Amino acid sequence: MNYRHAYHAGNFADVLKHGLLVWIVRYLQQKDAPLCLIDTHGGAGVYDLGGTEARKTGEAAGGVLRIAEASDRPAVIEPYRQLVGGANEAGAMTRYPGSPWLMAAMLRKQDRAIVGELNGEDVAALRAALAGFERVRVMEGDGYAMLQKIVPPREKRGLVLIDPPFEASDEFETLAQAIIATHAKWPTGVYVIWYPLKDDAAVERFHAELLNARLAKMLNITLDVGAADEGLRACGLVVINPPWILEKEWREALAWLARTLARGANAASRMEWLVP
Ligand SMILES: C[S@@+](CC[C@H](N)C(=O)[O-])C[C@H]1O[C@@H](n2cnc3c(N)ncnc32)[C@H](O)[C@@H]1O
Repeated sequence: MNYRHAYHAGNFADVLKHGLLVWIVRYLQQKDAPLCLIDTHGGAGVYDLGGTEARKTGEAAGGVLRIAEASDRPAVIEPYRQLVGGANEAGAMTRYPGSPWLMAAMLRKQDRAIVGELNGEDVAALRAALAGFERVRVMEGDGYAMLQKIVPPREKRGLVLIDPPFEASDEFETLAQAIIATHAKWPTGVYVIWYPLKDDAAVERFHAELLNARLAKMLNITLDVGAADEGLRACGLVVINPPWILEKEWREALAWLARTLARGANAASRMEWLVP
């Protein structure tokens, strides 16, 4: 287990994942009914953009820093940008808040969050990063096993973020099985699932497994920044049970993200229903 999110914090993939995460949670919070937010692979919580790891890759420069500097941000990105700004001193962008921090910062008094993380060092960092928040529980261990134990949550409404490191060669299979098993127990939850787009055949098999399990209302969103270097250039999100208005509200914003985060001429975004 070598993956350290500190090398990638605030990159284009985080912008896509966290931008949509924040927007969806805010949308769900338009109703007063309590929410349970679940993050199976939490990471370290908050990342120092001036730290050794982040400086080594400089990935935030092609991600959140471009968003912060843009003058023509779409309205749907704004709740995310404001939360990221809130994790920093005014006018600075030295800290990047990961998904558990963003979830914790959005909780109302009737909501709660449960975060899983396997790496002991990250668990300690995560607990420290979330110390000032209430109603957040950090669980050390395998996030997939945790998820099985805690769904359906008593609130019945909520969201699951699954954001694995994709170090294991069978991560797509593990992920698909976890989604299918969890969805069977909690079919009405909103699921946001991140994946890297490096191996088209593996992604097709992953989508096919979800389709074979007859999961409905699955939206697939991809962002390719068109970079020509060795690093990750494209990623995707499967969103199960998205708010119906997401597709309309985000279509233009996704095209804007592809333009704003482009690192090559072939930058592009896509949004399509796997199953409407
Ligand atoms: C991509 S990072 C998570 C980033 C975080 N979701 C965010 O957006 O800020 C993946 C994390 O999963 C952790 N991890 C790896 N295998 C795991 C498992 N089986 N269960 C829970 N966490 C795991 C890694 O230690 C790493 O911190």
